[in-house]
Amino acid sequence: MSAEDALFQRFGKEFPKSTILFREGESGKEMYVLQAGRVLITKRVRDEQKTLAVLGPGEFFGEMALISNKPRNATATVTEAAKLLVIDPKTFEGMIRGNTEIAVRMIKKLAERLADADAQIETLLLADPGSRVVHHLLTACQTRGRAAEEGVEIDLQLRELPAVTGVGEPGVRSMLERLERLGLVERSGERLTVRDTARLDEYLSFLEMRWKFGDL
Ligand code: CMP
Repeated sequence: MSAEDALFQRFGKEFPKSTILFREGESGKEMYVLQAGRVLITKRVRDEQKTLAVLGPGEFFGEMALISNKPRNATATVTEAAKLLVIDPKTFEGMIRGNTEIAVRMIKKLAERLADADAQIETLLLADPGSRVVHHLLTACQTRGRAAEEGVEIDLQLRELPAVTGVGEPGVRSMLERLERLGLVERSGERLTVRDTARLDEYLSFLEMRWKFGDL
């Protein structure tokens, strides 16, 4: 039996699509590790549910309430049938004490999450909606881009963009179409290729200037 199967036998649970694992504000002490499937992390802002992250296999969540003894700071919903390890506080402490590699991996992941949150704050601070879409694409290229023949490739779920950029779907769509017309990006299903990130960065500067000084 593989180590992963052994862990699943001890701590594993399966959850169907649409299960709400926990809601923001609830108390809860378990941490979850995703072995398969997908989980959406959302937060209520005013009256809307905003996406903070879409997590996939190998990622963990629910550690904040466990570590800080505070209520859940976001809601977790299964969006693709999931296999999860459900870790209680005692087991968590034992794992961290007994295996420094797990602790180091967690710290690295938390640092990445903080960097992502900083990038998202930067995106949202841009006044021009078009610039926010472009800035998000550039950040995604840096953090999760793959080198491809034609540039840098990223997986992009169009429906997530409004929540992370604060731009409505028509605005997102029209900006992506414009970028395609300008030959700056290419789209194929849920994959987007940025031909030349330096040129896209220049285009972002142009949008910012235009926002600041207006059209002629
Ligand atoms: P917890 O507060 O226990 O419950 C909600 C969980 O969502 C939280 O722990 C984190 O694991 C996770 N979470 C919160 N903010 C983010 C974020 N920006 N990116 C990824 N996961 C997050």
